[in-house]
Amino acid sequence: MNNLIHLRQASKAFGQGATTHNVLKGIDLSIDAGEAVAIVGPSGGGKSTLLSILGLLDKTSGGEYQLKGQNVNALTRRQTSILRNRHIGWVFQNFSLIGSLSALENVALPLRYNPSIPTSDYARLSKQVLEQVGLADKLHLRPDALSGGQQQRVAVARALVNQPALLLADEPTGNLDSHSGEAVMQLLLECHQRGTTLLMVTHDNGLAKRCQRQIFLKDGRIFDAAD
Ligand SMILES: Nc1ncnc2c1ncn2[C@@H]1O[C@H](COP(=O)(O)OP(=O)(O)OP(=O)(O)O)[C@@H](O)[C@H]1O
Ligand SMILES: [Mg+2]
Repeated sequence: MNNLIHLRQASKAFGQGATTHNVLKGIDLSIDAGEAVAIVGPSGGGKSTLLSILGLLDKTSGGEYQLKGQNVNALTRRQTSILRNRHIGWVFQNFSLIGSLSALENVALPLRYNPSIPTSDYARLSKQVLEQVGLADKLHLRPDALSGGQQQRVAVARALVNQPALLLADEPTGNLDSHSGEAVMQLLLECHQRGTTLLMVTHDNGLAKRCQRQIFLKDGRIFDAAD
C-alpha cells in the first residue's frame, strides 16, 4: 500500500479562550494513493475544514499530518506552498474562476507555480486538459459566457493541469443541475481511473457511493460508514 495521507489525532480549533470552537476533534485518517474517497455528513460538521487542512490551505491546531511521508507541520511556508501547488488540485463548489480571464488563461494559472514547465508550453498544456473535459471549442471564452456546468469543467481542467497526485473537490456539483453535475462527477471519476487520488465532499449520497470509500464526519469526528 502506498500511503498518501496520514492524519493522527488531528484537531482544529477556531477562536481563543471562552470562545474557542473545536471543529475537528482527534481525527485519525489514512488514505492510500489511488483511492477515491467521499466525505459526507451534516452541515457544520467540519468537512470543508478537514479538506482545507488536507489540501494545505490551513493547519491543524494539534496532532500530526503526513502528506507523501512528509510531516506537514515541520515544513516552511515556502515548502508548503510548493507541495500544494505541485501535488494538489482543487475544485470548489463556486468554481472560483477569474472573471477577466479566458478559460485557457484560467487553466494556465497553476502552471505559473511550476518552474519545470516553460511559459511557452502553457497554452498547449491548458488546451490539452480543456479538450479532455470537452471544452475544445470554448478556449477563449470568459466564465460569464459559459454555463455553470461548463465553468465547473474549466475548474476541473485547472485542477488537473499540473497532473496533481491528489484531487480535492468540495461540493463540486453543489451548484449544478443534475445533468451538469453528472458530467462533472464522471470527469472526476475518470481522473481517478487514470490514477489520481480523489477526495470529494458531497451532500449527495448517490455520488458518495460511487467512490470506493465513504467517510462520515459529524461534529468534528469521523465515523465509518458502517457505524
Ligand atoms: N475560519 C473560521 N473561523 C471560525 N469558525 C470557523 C471557520 N471555518 C469554519 N468554522 C466553523 O467550523 C464549523 C465547521 O465548518 P465547515 O465549513 O468545516 O463545515 P462543513 O461540514 O463543510 O459544512 P457545510 O456542509 O455546510 O459546508 C462551523 O461551525 C464553522 O462555523
Ligand atoms: Mg463545507
